[in-house]
Amino acid sequence: MLTVKNINQYYGGSHILRDVSLQTTPGKVTVLLGRNGVGKTTLLKSLMGLVPIKTGSIEFNGQAIEKATPYERARAGIGFVPQGREIFARLTVEENLRMGLAYKSGSTPVPAELYELFPVLKQMLHRRGGDLSGGQQQQLAIARALAAGPKLLILDEPTEGIQPSIIKDIGRVIRMLADRGEMAILLCEQYYDFAEELADDYLVMERGEVIARGPGSEMAEKGVRQLVAI
Ligand SMILES: Nc1ncnc2c1ncn2[C@@H]1O[C@H](COP(=O)(O)OP(=O)(O)OP(=O)(O)O)[C@@H](O)[C@H]1O
Ligand SMILES: [Mg+2]
Repeated sequence: MLTVKNINQYYGGSHILRDVSLQTTPGKVTVLLGRNGVGKTTLLKSLMGLVPIKTGSIEFNGQAIEKATPYERARAGIGFVPQGREIFARLTVEENLRMGLAYKSGSTPVPAELYELFPVLKQMLHRRGGDLSGGQQQQLAIARALAAGPKLLILDEPTEGIQPSIIKDIGRVIRMLADRGEMAILLCEQYYDFAEELADDYLVMERGEVIARGPGSEMAEKGVRQLVAI
């Protein structure tokens, strides 16, 4: 699926990612944990091609993609839910979902399944994205990323600023998508309990480096909560 080896990234003179390696697996949720500013978003943007890497390799389904554009990576089957959601505030819910299909042919319909996963979107189809609550916008951002049928779904802190009932719904959807066995999920989080509940595998980052990793079932005994406690 996705295989990342030894990537290094810099913003100007600052060394932000240091030899980061990771893998994702179809049917599994890989959780990436780390405190504020450790480089989680930078890593995900590097995987999407939104920021350049200096060294290292990124393979997706056996193809080297580290030089591919974000558009090419999306078309290869990587869906991205950015931190802060980045909903188009002035477009309707339906138009936002159609943006997720932008690189498909013009007649490709929005998959009806998205409305089963997130029924609230169906009720709000003609509302403007900017008029939705934060939690509804997050669900819209996830649905937009799913619209094109990705094989890898990358989520950057989907629980940030979201009310608990919607966090539960989002968790259920993530679990269900993984349990179907075809999609790999890379979930970046600071909310430990949510991460632990979903993790099949985990990684912890500190100052741009992976400092711990293992199966999700071992997070408690390895004291991962303390590694990310604020
Ligand atoms: N465009 C940029 N130019 C320069 N430095 C940046 C830029 N974006 C992020 N940084 C710096 O890179 C480091 C990593 O930031 P990043 O946003 O990847 O962290 P993060 O782990 O996602 O944090 P958070 O949990 O707050 O989202 C930080 O020190 C940040 O200040
Ligand atoms: Mg971030």
